[in-house]
Amino acid sequence: MDDNIFIIQHPLLTHKISLLRDKETPTAEFRHIVKEIAILEGYEALRDVETKMVEIETPIEKTVQPMVRSSKLCFVPILRAGMGMVDGFAELVPNAIVGHIGLYRDEVTHEPHPYYCKLPQNLSEKEVFLLDPMLATGGSAIDAVKTLRKHGAKKIRFVCIIAAPEGVKAFHAANPDIPLYIGALDRELNDAAYICPGLGDAGDRIFGTTVR
Ligand code: PRP
Ligand code: URA
Repeated sequence: MDDNIFIIQHPLLTHKISLLRDKETPTAEFRHIVKEIAILEGYEALRDVETKMVEIETPIEKTVQPMVRSSKLCFVPILRAGMGMVDGFAELVPNAIVGHIGLYRDEVTHEPHPYYCKLPQNLSEKEVFLLDPMLATGGSAIDAVKTLRKHGAKKIRFVCIIAAPEGVKAFHAANPDIPLYIGALDRELNDAAYICPGLGDAGDRIFGTTVR
């Protein structure tokens, strides 16, 4: 694997991803686990964010200590399913800015279709964390990165929960400079471009829109 591709290894993470895969896991629990996974992955993905030295006073004395520059961080979920990961990232850095990119994948062509974009004006000054649980063909994430770059983003990382080898290859070929954090690398895509074994449609499972 390339230097910029990080498959996060931790039994707790794998355990929680297995719970997501289970088709019997109900919506509320699914959403909660996505948040927990985002916290675990966020801990890794945020490992080398910028800090600044701040003067504080302990009960003993004055001291200068490092603190995360929260206002320099921007979390950008790809709607809908990426929304499920924002709460976990915001739990780690509550004062980070949140932008939104709305894309849906055409069921037949699997091409991404943009429908919404709201990003901070000074994106070039931010460290951007693009969030989406699923990296399948890679089309959505590649399109979202184009939008981020068009809005001036220079420092971008992409965090997903499950990836297909096809999506990793396509994303990395298009964006070799962007670190890619993955919770689990699955076997392949099926004919409908769903990840196998995967977890099904992430957006439907997070928001309960699955047809029952
Ligand atoms: C899912 C997922 C990704 C995309 C991945 O979203 O959340 O955004 O598919 O597939 P790709 O790598 O082949 O582009 P979807 O388009 O189903 O929209 P939704 O989140 O609104 O359900
Ligand atoms: N989008 C999903 O939600 N799941 C997949 O398996 C592929 C794309």
